[in-house]
Amino acid sequence: MPSQADRLMDVAIRRSFLIPSAEIYGSPAGFYDYGAVGSQIKRKIENLWRSEFLQKEGFHEIETSLIVPEAVLKASGHAQNFADPLVTCSSCKQKFRADHLIAENKDAKKDGVKAAGLPPAELGALLKKYAIVCPQCKKPTLSEVGWFNMMFRTNIGPIEGNTAYARPETAQGIFLDFARVVRNYGSKLPIGIGQVGRSFRNEISPRQGLIRMREFTQMELEYFFNPKEQAHPKYGKVKEHKVRFVEGEGAPKEISIGELVSSSAVPNEIMAYFLWKQWEFYKAIGIPAGKMFFRKMPKEETPHYSKGNVDLEVETSYGSIETTGTAYRTDFDLSQHAKHSGADLSVFDEATKQKIVPHVVEPSLGVDRLFWCVLEHTFREKSEGKDWEWFDLPPAIAPYHAWVFPLMKKDGLDEKAQHVEEQLREAGLSVYYQDSGSIGRRYARADEIGVPYCITIDYDSLEKGDVTVRFRNDGKQIRVKIPELAEKIAHYVKEGRVIAP
Ligand code: GAP
Repeated sequence: MPSQADRLMDVAIRRSFLIPSAEIYGSPAGFYDYGAVGSQIKRKIENLWRSEFLQKEGFHEIETSLIVPEAVLKASGHAQNFADPLVTCSSCKQKFRADHLIAENKDAKKDGVKAAGLPPAELGALLKKYAIVCPQCKKPTLSEVGWFNMMFRTNIGPIEGNTAYARPETAQGIFLDFARVVRNYGSKLPIGIGQVGRSFRNEISPRQGLIRMREFTQMELEYFFNPKEQAHPKYGKVKEHKVRFVEGEGAPKEISIGELVSSSAVPNEIMAYFLWKQWEFYKAIGIPAGKMFFRKMPKEETPHYSKGNVDLEVETSYGSIETTGTAYRTDFDLSQHAKHSGADLSVFDEATKQKIVPHVVEPSLGVDRLFWCVLEHTFREKSEGKDWEWFDLPPAIAPYHAWVFPLMKKDGLDEKAQHVEEQLREAGLSVYYQDSGSIGRRYARADEIGVPYCITIDYDSLEKGDVTVRFRNDGKQIRVKIPELAEKIAHYVKEGRVIAP
């Protein structure tokens, strides 16, 4: 019996959401392509993030190089610290993540052992204590635990020794360009700089589809501020709102954004504000509030650069998964780059009339994990009058806003439908013309990829100049005049309407 996740992955591959990369050569683990449907959903998630986290906040977006010289990653600490604990089986030569082997062991689980973040010696002792054998060949021949640096290494140009890496996070490019963005836009703090792009991590054991990949997309925002000013101007507007939060183990509890700050669960108003932004963003892309929660990261798991991390986790069929990490990176990165490069990365802060190195709060969202969570939480079995499995995607991130059909491929209905399609496209809507199969089958196909509205041109359309609009979730239809159609569909998308008015 395939697991729930395997079934959903099968649906995602069959319906053009995802394609295993280099499939005809055996699909190396940890890489997925987005198909014609999936890439549109992904782009809409990214664009919604741009709108919510950059455009509505008045922040800047940049796009930086994927290949980064070694000096950058020595300064950031990645060259030394960005490693996972590795064990090798001396019999079958397979390699594994030591902490994962312990986390998956039944007895270690029963004892409540937390392997993540432990040093190699302690992991080695736990492997021995629980008599953990090689999961592949089942022999007790696992090596000592060592470190494996996760960065993909390359060489710039033909001269050996000019070492560089595929970036492990998009953030470093933002720190490197910070001084120039500030110079071009004036030195008034706070400044937000974001970017959406690929990051690379040579994971020891990529698994769980989009959850642990070797190449993935991040949406990262670096919010630079004067550390003497840890307030956020919009905090007052959000502080009464509630989120689910847990510190350490146990069940998440409802707590207000204001209480997170007053109880020092988060370091400042700035982080609290961005946690609220994430909460709302997740709801807008279809993750139910009851299926997600913030978790304050224990000190031993906190990355080397952070003075406090809060993750946003989503419950999935793989268990609860970290999909966003928000870190208080302080001035760590700018100070390190200033020290290693010799560049002055301080800013003259107009408010305090002082030169300072700004502090940074960073919300870092993983697009692929979010994409998967959206699929999990919007997938519907045959239900609500539908004899097919379908996706209840919010219209804002559906692959198409609407599909347009002629009732029949004759009598001028097809030309009229193509004309309507063109009109909607010109109005900026994403639409798709479909004339094959019965109307019922076309509705089913649209539902199967989450399209919220189906527009049918019938014989009445030729006479009266109107069309039917069918709403995905209740299957009900209304008639709309063609000249009003684009505006109405755009309005329904904005409203998030999935049932007929
Ligand atoms: N700049 C901070 C940073 O990169 P992170 O917690 O390592 O922090 C942020 O990564 C987000 O990137 C994660 O919450 C996750 O959504 C995504 N991510 C990290 N590693 C990933 C992987 N191997 N596969 C897919 N997504 C990953």
